[in-house]
Amino acid sequence: MTQTTDTAHTAQGSPLTVAVLGAGGGVGRQVVHALIQQGHAVRALVRRQEQADALEHLGAVTVLGDLTGDWDAVLEGAGAVVWAAGAGTSGNFEQIDGRALEQVADHLAARGPRRLIVVSSMGVDRPEQMPPFLDSVLRVKAVSDAHVQASTLDYTIVRPGGLTNEQGSGRVSAGFPVQGGMIPREDVAAVVLACLNDAATIGKTFEVVAGEQPVAEALALI
Ligand SMILES: NC(=O)c1ccc[n+]([C@@H]2O[C@H](COP(=O)([O-])OP(=O)(O)OC[C@H]3O[C@@H](n4cnc5c(N)ncnc54)[C@H](OP(=O)(O)O)[C@@H]3O)[C@@H](O)[C@H]2O)c1
Repeated sequence: MTQTTDTAHTAQGSPLTVAVLGAGGGVGRQVVHALIQQGHAVRALVRRQEQADALEHLGAVTVLGDLTGDWDAVLEGAGAVVWAAGAGTSGNFEQIDGRALEQVADHLAARGPRRLIVVSSMGVDRPEQMPPFLDSVLRVKAVSDAHVQASTLDYTIVRPGGLTNEQGSGRVSAGFPVQGGMIPREDVAAVVLACLNDAATIGKTFEVVAGEQPVAEALALI
């Protein structure tokens, strides 16, 4: 585990220090990679040392912690936060996708940083139209997304369709709602990065799937 203080640059388009929660997960790793590629500094929250080793190899500073316990050391020096965590196959949605996200939002609202990008899920607002196995997680995410929306934070909520590990195309369809579909995790990361660089996405919640438009153009239409 490495803990250092990084300098946060907050001007639009300038390098930032970004805390990534769920950094060892599928989307989280892609977000870390994209952030570093674009010259940002990353503080990555992970639960396991092997995840820390892999992310440090990419150039991230890592913090071992747990969203149900001690996690806030990851915020040191951060100018923005990306939530890419989720209970996944553990099924512990109430605790992670629900309570932990709400607690993170409350913590940020009280102490900063104010910029939060949440990777949520398509269908949160219409679980009855989604496959039944998603019902529990979508209903939990509906409550925690609403908590973020009701906060004073500079939030953006990104709701991707089904995630794949295919190579990203850099082309998406974004809106509210969009037709159901899939999207590579690499493209979700590109969308998160574009949101970070685009203050016009603050206060927005939108769905995104693979599509035809370059990411920045798609976001300009939401
Ligand atoms: N799968 C899909 O098709 C799909 C579709 C739309 C939206 N989403 C949502 O998109 C988000 C990212 O998906 P993904 O596929 O990247 O998920 P993932 O690979 O399961 O990654 C989730 C990350 O959250 C971390 N996490 C879970 N509990 C934690 C805790 N108590 N403390 C700290 N970290 C914790 C996990 O840590 P460990 O690595 O230690 O387990 C993991 O790294 C999730 O919110 C998911 O619900 C998924």
